[in-house]
Amino acid sequence: MKKSLGSCATIMRVNPRRAFVFLIVLCTCILSFSFWSRCPLNDQQQTVRESSEVQGSLDQSVHFRNRNANNYDVPAEMEMAGGGSSMHEITCEINHEYSVQCRREENEVYMPFSFIKKYFEVYGEIQVSEGDEKFEFSHSYSEVHVPPEVIRPDGIFMSFEHYNVEIRKRVKCITATEGVPVSTQWEASGHFYPIQIAQFGLSHYSKHLVEGKPTVTRLITGNDLDLDLWAYSSSKTTARSLFDRTRQSDVIQFKTSDSLSNTGLQYELKEKNNFAVTLDFKMISNGSVTASLKSDTYTFHIHYVFSNTLISCDGRNIFFGLGENRRGKWIHLARDVNMDLLKGLALKCSKHRKMKDLTFLGLSIRGQGWVDNVTLASAAHMDHFFDAANWFVNHQDSRGGWPIKVTRKLLSGVMELPPGWYSAMAQGQAMSTLVRAYLRSGSKVYLQAATDALKIFEISSAQGGVKARFANSYDWYEEYPTTPSSFVLNGFIFSLFGLYDLKQVAEGQALETVTRIYNEGIKSLKAMLLMYDSGTGTFYDLRHITVGIAPNRARWDYHTVHISQLLQLSRMEDDPLFMRTAKRWQDYMQGKWSTHN
Ligand SMILES: *[C@@H]1O[C@H](CO)[C@@H](O)[C@H](O)[C@H]1NC(C)=O
Ligand SMILES: *[C@@H]1O[C@H](CO)[C@@H](O)[C@H](O)[C@H]1NC(C)=O
Repeated sequence: MKKSLGSCATIMRVNPRRAFVFLIVLCTCILSFSFWSRCPLNDQQQTVRESSEVQGSLDQSVHFRNRNANNYDVPAEMEMAGGGSSMHEITCEINHEYSVQCRREENEVYMPFSFIKKYFEVYGEIQVSEGDEKFEFSHSYSEVHVPPEVIRPDGIFMSFEHYNVEIRKRVKCITATEGVPVSTQWEASGHFYPIQIAQFGLSHYSKHLVEGKPTVTRLITGNDLDLDLWAYSSSKTTARSLFDRTRQSDVIQFKTSDSLSNTGLQYELKEKNNFAVTLDFKMISNGSVTASLKSDTYTFHIHYVFSNTLISCDGRNIFFGLGENRRGKWIHLARDVNMDLLKGLALKCSKHRKMKDLTFLGLSIRGQGWVDNVTLASAAHMDHFFDAANWFVNHQDSRGGWPIKVTRKLLSGVMELPPGWYSAMAQGQAMSTLVRAYLRSGSKVYLQAATDALKIFEISSAQGGVKARFANSYDWYEEYPTTPSSFVLNGFIFSLFGLYDLKQVAEGQALETVTRIYNEGIKSLKAMLLMYDSGTGTFYDLRHITVGIAPNRARWDYHTVHISQLLQLSRMEDDPLFMRTAKRWQDYMQGKWSTHN
């Protein structure tokens, strides 16, 4: 067909009397879409009937309508091709509201895909392989990640091995004080968002299980012989091995100038694959650890220093604060220096911001102190995981919660949470993290923190907790405990996952409590799940019911989270509702909507 037209379009049927019935026709065309495919000619009545049988959802396509399409401009390249075709321009009048330039060829009408895409919120791309062009059309852009077959409290969390939390722009950096992400979401200056910290921990934990043990090179084990490979910046630099009684380990005692302009005790590298550095050190002067990396042709230095500034930069020097009060104490530091450089470059101190052809040039240790266990590895997933778990232990308040210290406006002026709110999702994801840390380490500290996190589930939203009630019958654990209640679906289910994990390991009174809270939640979920089913997709929350406004449709990536969660629930709970619903919701992603009357 007329590829020379250059612009991608789809076909419309022409009704002899009325101009276009494109809404109806698009649905039919979806079934057999190709670059310039045809739909058979038919009259309008018949089209409606036939399509109903095939698709069962014709008039619902209007739900995809995007008002922004109002401002649609005809692309400049929409010039008619010659070649004796009977094709000519025709105006498409859209719902008597506005017009779009289309093409007509005999009884077919072609609408520009760029218009269709905006108007119906659908997606399409031309794919070229071995010289063959084809047009791939899809209803959704998102993908369902299938959770593991067996759900275990020490297993991979959902499919979080695919997550990379820290690479997101809204993560300012991973702190060098506690090794957890700082979020700039909802507050540009940054705050510690427990959900993000849990997801950071759970993603590294899951990656570790999937990837297996990292490749590790030991640069210092505490033995004198290691020092042969280290360079001394001056004759005043000293280093020797000695036994440290507090750590029951041979360590290296060192002394160099504190000044950042000296290279201290330095290990040179030309590393292109491994960017995870871990070390144990204690300093009694204002020392520092520096990683030097070359990106493109420029060398950047990442300095870990005793300051309280989380991250800062000066030209091609990037600083991470270890915390001023940590001098004189043993510190275990685990850094992904690649990520640290990325976050440093995002501060825009240097004109050179490209991450290209990265080489890890070396590591420097300066000041006066002791160092041990310096390693270079492909990843330090378990260190990051325990940093997250330890953050939850160290920052849990007396109510067993992790208050979120920024304002959250779910719906401006109607559903707002002032700083200090708790989130059932944060409590639940913290539990999933802490239960894994307990099973991995055997330390009861983690189990206790997970158990203490239960308390907030029993406090109502109105009293500063997270428990809402639907129709005075069903308990619901709120991701955002607003008044009126918001009933956010995905956050509630994540909280149930945390309760489920804790239920597998708790004992005595804690087991009783968690079982009761979990069972109440599952009962509510089964009763309320289908309230989120729109027939073509899902709702993110129930604001249309509690506030009486337009529903908040879940965008495709939340819709796919809903599906993954149902798949996981189908493995946890013996009820066909979850699998049946998951399958239907997956069908919606292919435009297979529910039937209508
Ligand atoms: C180095 O690692 C070993 C093994 O994990 C540990 O026993 C030792 O205490 C560590 N050294 C220091 C100084 O923390
Ligand atoms: C320690 O060194 C860092 C980096 O050189 C500097 O920012 C900080 O002010 C110093 N602290 C003290 C107490 O000298």
